[in-house]
Amino acid sequence: MSTINLVLHVWRQKNAAAEGQFVRYEAVNVSTHSSFLEMLDQVNEELIEKGQDPIAFDHDCREGICGACGMVINGHAHGPQKATTTCQLHMRQFKTGDELWIEPWRARAFPVVRDLVVDRGAFDRIIQAGGYISARAGSPPDANALPIAKGAADRAMDAAACIGCGACVAACPNASAMLFTAAKAGHLNLLPQGQPEKDSRVLKMVAQMETEGFGHCTNHYECMEACPKGINVEFIAQLNRDFVKATVTARGQGERRGGDG
Ligand code: SF4
Ligand code: FES
Repeated sequence: MSTINLVLHVWRQKNAAAEGQFVRYEAVNVSTHSSFLEMLDQVNEELIEKGQDPIAFDHDCREGICGACGMVINGHAHGPQKATTTCQLHMRQFKTGDELWIEPWRARAFPVVRDLVVDRGAFDRIIQAGGYISARAGSPPDANALPIAKGAADRAMDAAACIGCGACVAACPNASAMLFTAAKAGHLNLLPQGQPEKDSRVLKMVAQMETEGFGHCTNHYECMEACPKGINVEFIAQLNRDFVKATVTARGQGERRGGDG
């Protein structure tokens, strides 16, 4: 088993109101087979043995599914390996002597809870605003009972791959949540079950995104570069088109109602 020694500079912050700072740690005898989170576990065990506070970081599945483990490593959301969550990043990516700067997501809409943990509740509220189908769907239908064109099914699956990690926001110079919102709205909008509420879904989710304080998309495409699930910015273009259409339709309906009155 080969091992490496690293110098870590980890962002430590007691809560959102407290001042944070980088603290230097040495991670010694780290197995190159371990994951990035296992390396942090090892550092934490040593801190606990010394009676010090362990580094707080978020995690759950540790297999690239839940989206909890986001952190910025040497300026890259989820670290230097493309299409990889932090929990799936392995220490063989690094070599002895490397210095790693580890920070939480930086965005006004994601306040720091502690150290590397941020509150991504803003994403939940965007979903609550419209990322669902309200019709009673009953028990699961038989496979193929509802025909869906192959192209639409494939694109919906691509969008559904979003794990809500927030790397897109962390990587964007504007801290925009457009890639996340576009993936979540796009997934439902593409399917027949999602069509009846498409316009209201788009308007409500975009409005909530703005209420939460995320920035606007100005086409840097850093989100797509950082996304561990390869969500394409084409979904943002689609959301923009759907938003314009929904706005025009809502205005037309408003004018008609005004005329009726
Ligand atoms: S779009 Fe990608 S980066 Fe953004 S939340 Fe979804 S999976 Fe994470
Ligand atoms: S811990 Fe679930 S995606 Fe990393």
